[in-house]
Amino acid sequence: MKLNEIFPKESIVSKVGIDDVIFHEIGINNIDAIVKAKDSCMFELGGTIWDKHIQATPSENPMILGPHFQTANPYLFKEVSKVIGEDTIKDISYTYTEIKSSDVKYSKFSELLIAVLHQNILHISDIEFSHPLHEIPEKNRKYTFQSHKGLGLFGELISNCITFCKQEKLNKICLTAAAIDLVPLFEKHGFTVDDTPTGRHGMAYGGSIPMTKLLGS
Ligand SMILES: CC(C)(COP(=O)(O)OP(=O)(O)OC[C@H]1O[C@@H](n2cnc3c(N)ncnc32)[C@H](O)[C@@H]1OP(=O)(O)O)[C@@H](O)C(=O)NCCC(=O)NCCS
Repeated sequence: MKLNEIFPKESIVSKVGIDDVIFHEIGINNIDAIVKAKDSCMFELGGTIWDKHIQATPSENPMILGPHFQTANPYLFKEVSKVIGEDTIKDISYTYTEIKSSDVKYSKFSELLIAVLHQNILHISDIEFSHPLHEIPEKNRKYTFQSHKGLGLFGELISNCITFCKQEKLNKICLTAAAIDLVPLFEKHGFTVDDTPTGRHGMAYGGSIPMTKLLGS
């Protein structure tokens, strides 16, 4: 299994029942295009990588990359790699949908930005599974970032992640819950909030909450 095969493309097509779904895939060889398309996610990913390094290396000066945090540098991961002396992103894949038919307004209805990090981590940076034809009326919306009905595919995604991790000998899956109302959903799939200053700060602030699912050996 390759990293870009984690995204359950066939199930997405069958769930939405639309034939002309196009999947755009960008990989590590074109990482500049990923940075261009997902600059804030890439900045957050750099921040997460740095945070995990700081947790594991208490002797590190946490302030040395301050200017890159202040400018929200989407290439922060490269700066972290320079400090650590190792490539921190080993592999990365960004996939998103497009529907050619002009009567479907919500064309980019599902996406996944996922990376293999040093420290044997599979990291989900951005995930959306929305049904393009089932917008939820604003007054009925329950969750911060959910504007459309979901596809019921999160479990399949995690199962694909586990298969990939076993193959690549990775021992954890990490993600950052964008809003606190996502925490119970991710907990249902075996993730727990990181017991770190960033995890506690995220819970207090109500968003950007790092969570981890440990995988048995
Ligand atoms: C979060 C998301 C990827 C889950 O994917 P999914 O395929 O819909 O997942 P599932 O259907 O397996 O699970 C969703 C279930 O959890 C529930 N749920 C709980 N908290 C939720 C939340 N904050 N957002 C969405 N669903 C939530 C849903 O009601 C749903 O239950 P139901 O099937 O009984 O209605 C999808 O809802 C989505 O794209 N949301 C908008 C974007 C987003 O929030 N991304 C996460 C950024 S970290």
